[in-house]
Amino acid sequence: MRIPLIAGNWKMNTTVFEAVKLVNDMKSRLDAVTKVEKLVCPPFISLSKISEILKGTSIRLGAQNCHFMEKGAYTGEVSPVMLAGICEYVILGHSERRQYFGDTNEVVNKKIKAAISAGLKPILCVGESLQENEAGKTGEVVTNQMRGSLSGIEFNPGLVIAYEPVWAIGTGKAATGKQANETIGLVRRTLAGLYGEKAAVEVRILYGGSVTAANTTEFLSQPEIDGALVGGASLKPDEFISIAKQTAAL
Ligand code: PGA
Repeated sequence: MRIPLIAGNWKMNTTVFEAVKLVNDMKSRLDAVTKVEKLVCPPFISLSKISEILKGTSIRLGAQNCHFMEKGAYTGEVSPVMLAGICEYVILGHSERRQYFGDTNEVVNKKIKAAISAGLKPILCVGESLQENEAGKTGEVVTNQMRGSLSGIEFNPGLVIAYEPVWAIGTGKAATGKQANETIGLVRRTLAGLYGEKAAVEVRILYGGSVTAANTTEFLSQPEIDGALVGGASLKPDEFISIAKQTAAL
């Protein structure tokens, strides 16, 4: 049985003050939602403070990125070792990182290796662009991203995959539940090819891209979809809590 995961990616939003307020606004109501794993991923600068606020709750904490080195002369970067004491998860290979910060499959691969060796659970993001989607290349793109990003990495039970079609992120244009389920089925078969059937059955695969309280059931009721990576709607406490509750009720 895969426990659903509802993850909030706050992206580059919230000052420390606002992040503290946001998490305090959600904390007790989100903590009370059972049968679902709840995760928030605030900006680096707020992680330490929020980890203290979340102590003793069932809400997990994650980062949105990390560097692939443990330490050294990499001005402005944050290493997985620094994160390991504070949070449990790290989002890697998000399409915004791939698009604006040069995170190729090779870079993502190094980051996943470093994250795992530091004891973090990586959430690997994959997804096709609009052009790739229209050219019928979704399967090929997603499979290549997975093979490239996971190359040479042994199976890790903490691994989570998020399928996020780039054209559905922050656009209000979500995929349909059926489309997402099909691609996620392919992601699972790719995992089976890499790590065997048992691993493929265990790994949680999330959908991401314009998930809201209004479309949660459409996605989460699909057999292959094990949760959601939520951007915009994770900044609104009522919306995010509703997504978690609806998931728990399925
Ligand atoms: P969105 O973002 O929910 O705002 O579309 C999802 C994501 O990028 O993880």
